[in-house]
Amino acid sequence: MIPATVTRKDFLSVLDFDATDLERCLRLAAQVKADRTLGRLAPTAETLSGRHVAMLFDKPSLRTRTTFEIAIRELGGHLVALQPDVALGRREPVADVARNLERWVDAVIIRTFSQDVLQEFAAAAPRLHVVNALTDQEHPCQALADVLTLQEHFGLLRGRTIAYVGDGNNVATSLTHAAAMLGVHVHVASPEPYQLPHAVVQQATSVARHGARLRLFSDAADAVAGADAVYTDTWTSMGQETEADIRRRVLAPYQVNDELMALARPGALFMHCLPAHRGDEVTADVFESDVSVVFDQAENRLHGQKALLLMLLAGRGADFGLRMAVD
Ligand code: CP
Repeated sequence: MIPATVTRKDFLSVLDFDATDLERCLRLAAQVKADRTLGRLAPTAETLSGRHVAMLFDKPSLRTRTTFEIAIRELGGHLVALQPDVALGRREPVADVARNLERWVDAVIIRTFSQDVLQEFAAAAPRLHVVNALTDQEHPCQALADVLTLQEHFGLLRGRTIAYVGDGNNVATSLTHAAAMLGVHVHVASPEPYQLPHAVVQQATSVARHGARLRLFSDAADAVAGADAVYTDTWTSMGQETEADIRRRVLAPYQVNDELMALARPGALFMHCLPAHRGDEVTADVFESDVSVVFDQAENRLHGQKALLLMLLAGRGADFGLRMAVD
């Protein structure tokens, strides 16, 4: 057995993990997924006993909120569901909210707008674990589920290619970080105003392993050619509603439809973090097709986040009695 925990306090970004952490998280996620049928007999069922985990969501959520709640309960922890009237940074300074919570709870899972606010929060509370449940810039918990889903379908991922088509947003950023670390080539096709930020390109290049390459395209067909999986996301993320019309016009050539999927490798997977907008970023036919793994991704939110909580919150050196082989 080897320890599965990390010494990192927070998970604000995939980049808070190194490649070894990420691979261990994926193995642990696969293990807790397999163990879920054991219920109270699962080796991890009491790991967070006596621990309090708060959740603070400044934006709507179905998948992230639900899966974190279930994860906390199934690990034996106690959930504190903070209400939006906490009004992060508006009713009192962000750092004061953090310093209050640090006196009561072990961890806080936060969905908010700005990554800078999340970082300010985490820095203000040195004993409090902070998890990014989505910001405008990054969605690292989604990326855990995405690469877990890819592993389930492909096994070893290095050398595979994933094409992300559409808005170069928070989901694209975290997917790119994780894929590069695991040796997956990433093709991103976006129109000029919505390209992946240059900083993300630099980050992905610096953490890439096993020869993984990140390539940016303006043409969706070029990005998808020969890809093992095609990923897209909403064209208008939360907080961008006033831009919906212009985004729909500019991003229309990036719709994932049967013609685009036909350019990928035969049997290539279709992926989406959800919620999806049929007729915009993806057609109903592709969304409902046999190659669509969108609900596998949604299910894996639970297992990835359970593994994450174990890695952050279990005592140093814990192995959970799980089958974590040495690399
Ligand atoms: N994919 C995702 O984060 O879903 P929610 O917004 O419903 O949490």
